[in-house]
This record gives sequence, C-alpha cells and structure tokens, in this order.
Amino acid sequence: PTKRYYEWTISQHVVAPDGFERPMLLVNGKFPGPMVEANTGDMIVVKVTNNMVNGTAIHWHGMFQNGTNWMDGTTGVTQCPIPPGQSFTYNFTVPNQWGTYWWHAHAASQYVDGIVGPLIIHSPDEPHLEKYDQDMVMMVSDHYHIDSASLAAWYLSTASEGVEPVPDNGLINGRNSFDCSMATEALFPTTPGSGNGKDRCFSNAPQAVFGVEPGLTYRIRIINTGSFADFKVSVDEHELTVIEADGVDMVPVKVERVPIHVAQRYSVLLVANRSTSNEGFWIRAEMNTNCFNVENPALDPSVKAILQYKAPSTPSFSINNTNNNRNTGMTTQEAPNSVDWNEGAWSPHCDDLKAEMLKPFFAKDAPEADTQVVLEMSFQTISRDRVNMGYVNKTSWRPQLDSPTLLQAIDGGGGGGGNSATMFDASQLVVTLDKIQTVELVVNNLDEGAHPFHLHGHVFYVVGSGDGSYIPGQSALHIENPPRRDTVTIPPYGYVVLRFVSDNPGLWAFHCHIDWHMAAGLLMQFLALPSQVKAFEIPQVVRELCRAS
Ligand code: C2O
Repeated sequence: PTKRYYEWTISQHVVAPDGFERPMLLVNGKFPGPMVEANTGDMIVVKVTNNMVNGTAIHWHGMFQNGTNWMDGTTGVTQCPIPPGQSFTYNFTVPNQWGTYWWHAHAASQYVDGIVGPLIIHSPDEPHLEKYDQDMVMMVSDHYHIDSASLAAWYLSTASEGVEPVPDNGLINGRNSFDCSMATEALFPTTPGSGNGKDRCFSNAPQAVFGVEPGLTYRIRIINTGSFADFKVSVDEHELTVIEADGVDMVPVKVERVPIHVAQRYSVLLVANRSTSNEGFWIRAEMNTNCFNVENPALDPSVKAILQYKAPSTPSFSINNTNNNRNTGMTTQEAPNSVDWNEGAWSPHCDDLKAEMLKPFFAKDAPEADTQVVLEMSFQTISRDRVNMGYVNKTSWRPQLDSPTLLQAIDGGGGGGGNSATMFDASQLVVTLDKIQTVELVVNNLDEGAHPFHLHGHVFYVVGSGDGSYIPGQSALHIENPPRRDTVTIPPYGYVVLRFVSDNPGLWAFHCHIDWHMAAGLLMQFLALPSQVKAFEIPQVVRELCRAS
C-alpha cells in the first residue's frame, strides 16, 4: 500500500482566529490543522510530537481501525497519553472505507483548543465521483475566548449549576470576525489574570473565502469540528445536494440548509451557476442557540463565510509573528449582498436530517438483532458538593490515564468471555460482546438536551428515533435501508435505536461528542470479541507510553 506520511508538532501559541487573542493548541502552527488525505487501501503514518505541557493523543474519527484498535488514539481507552516532549507514531491502513472524516485530540478537552483537522479518504469506487469537478472542506465550529481547561473546570464545579459554557463565537475554516465592543459582555469576560480582553481584540477580522469558478460543480465536505453547538449550514441562492453523511454515500437529495451536529459530516454538491463575474454570496452557519441553557450576549450566532466567484480560497490560518498571529487572511472582499433562504426553511430543533432524506446509495436493510443493549443517559447533580456529572446507566466515566481499558482487557485476569464487569474499575462501563452478532443499541435520553453520540470503529444503522423512552414492540422501527452513520443526535427526552455488527475486535468508546459532556463522564465502552483482543500483539511503543507517563 502507498504510505501517506505526516510529521506533526503540537504546541501552544497565542492566536486570534476571530481577532480575539487567546492561547490555542496548534498542529504545525496551523488552525485548523493539516489535512490528512489518502486513498482507500493506503497506509496512514503520522508522527506526532507533543510540545505541550500536557499529555495528548490523536483520534481518527470514523476510521474502523480493524485489527489496529491501539491506533484509535483515545486516552483511557486505547492508549496512555503521549507525554510532553515525546513523540508517538500512528500507523494504520484504510482498507474498506472512504469519504469525509476528521481527526482530533482525544485527551481532556484539548480539541476545543484547536487540535482538529480534516481526514479525507478517496476511492475509485465512490458512486458520485462523476458529479463534481472539485473538492473543498468547510469546517464549522463553535469558538471560545478562554482555554478549554478553565471552561471545563468551571463546568464541572458548583459555580456552573450544570450549565454548559456557551461559545463566544463560531468559525468557518477557523476564521470569523468578532465585535470587540462586546468583549466585556461575554459570559466569561475575563481570562484569569488579564482584564476583559478588549485590549487583545481586533474587530473586523476577515471571514473565510471559498473561491469558485463559474460553471463548475463543487463537492463541499462540511465537518462540525466544534465542541457544543450544532449548526444549520446554507449558501445564499445556491441549493445544496447532499451526497454523503459520515463516510456513507447517500442517494442525492436537495436541501436549502444542512443541520449538522458536533462531529458529523456531510458532503454537498454546489453548482456555481449564479454569476459569471467576481460576485460574492454569503455562506451561513447559523448556530442553534435554542439548545443552550443560557444566553451569551457577546455571541452573534449568524456565523458567516463568503462564496466568491473568480477568487482564490483562503488558506488555513498559519501562525506568523509579524502580525501578532492575527487572522488577517486575504485582501478584504466586499461584503456580499446576497439574500438568505426564507426563515420557514429551517427548524429550530437540534436534530439530524430526517431518515427520508438520508437513503444510503448502496442500500442495505438493517440486519435482525441478535442481542439488545439498553443504555440510559442522564445528568445528576451530586447533592453534597453539587458537581454536575453525566451518567450512562449508573456510571460516570473517568479516564484511567495510566491504564487504558484496552491494556486491562489484554493483561487483566479472567477475560476471554463471560462478564467482564469484574475486570474494570467502577468508573468504567464496559459491555462485552463475545461473538460476532448484530447488536441493537437502545439509548434513552433522560436529559433536556440533544446529544450527538459517536461510536468508535463502526458505522451503525439508525433504525429508530423519537420522543420519550423506547417502548419495544410499540415504537416504530425503520428497517428498510435506514441511514448508516457514525454520529447520531439523540433528541431531548428522546431515544435512538441503533444496530451494529460486533465484528471489529477492540475496546470502542461510545460517547456524547459534546466535549463538556464527555468531560462530565458521558462515555461507555464496548469490548468486542475479547478472545481476539487478548491475542492482540500490541506494539511495544504503545505500552511504553504507559511507562513514560
Ligand atoms: Cu470524534 Cu471519541 O471521537
């Protein structure tokens, strides 16, 4: 196989992607980080050097890692953190999947601080290849003016009363502007020890520009690389045709707006046929503030970028000390005067594109379930110190950083079948799947918020979703070619029913991708095919990480 080799150094820099200076964690000084691009069948090799003060790990979101579970990059699950000052090389092949993925730090809340980037897999077998001329990546994300460690500490303290940190801004491909006069109004107006930030803020930072040639068709790969907010993405006066969700090709369907929750991806086709001169049109990523518990007065939820005919696209933001690491981007474009789709076209709900709109191109009916796992997710405030915690069933996850569950499963006593509960600490909810079978996973959400749940190492069938708790035999199931994806939004006080085949040996996290909720413990794990896991020949370098930390 062809080897795609990357060398990355992760370090902290003070940067201003939206004009507001703050410390961020960047890969090779870029934000968003470098794109990993490969063909199906290639070997991806990434040497990561950690020049930060904390340990880290990089997760390849959506990669199956079949036979290489220890390359899944999840601290507390598949590896110990890469210690400061050290390097670790990820190495895996991509045998049977293609489409739009991303990579991000899976250690503490580090990805919120900038350790994110696109991961694109091409294949000659892609069914929609002939339908477009060019490929673009559009990352949308919420953005905070304070570092994630401070925000997570606040969220997990009594002070928050369970209310998540609300973003200060949103970004498209790492850029946006911010009205600095609002800096004092922000929910968290001060960074510890340094005023309200107004003196570190520059208004009118430029938005990202997506340059297009008249007459061409573009595949735009939309990725929500954020931590909390879901968006409705649209382009003025241009319809979008959805052709892929989370690496699964879809029957093309036209939409005006694409709802996208944290960690989800959609490819859409856009035909650049609205102008022949150098005209601009707004790209809108409307942040869904209905899903926040409090209002941040400094936040403008209408996040924008510009689709510009006959212009080059903005490159990824790169540190550059001559401009204080501000987002200066390209020469200022004139603000477009294009008009938005009408309001009626967008629902205020935090939910996914409906199943009727997401028909996998390679149709498959959901296999019949061999076994069922029922999970209940909730938040509880511990009465004694009033710290807010997320629970899957009775367990609130705390990563065991020096003893990932994968190594426990290999080295621990017992194992190889039976009830694994005795093998793991009480902070770990691990469900063992002994043999290859179709698992029906029911998740009941007892919380008032919507939660984007991701299963590592798999694509699942979304066979059901609705309000209230799932009632077997009563709630309708959608068996005929249901959407298949790796991240699904569970509605507020609602449920989802997923099915997946447990044919991939390893320890796989299943968690809410809202970073604050993962920090609060909303994560459980599947141990698939334990006897094969016991026989894993884990590279020595993976074990050495645990000795070093
Ligand atoms: Cu994007 Cu646990 O993953």
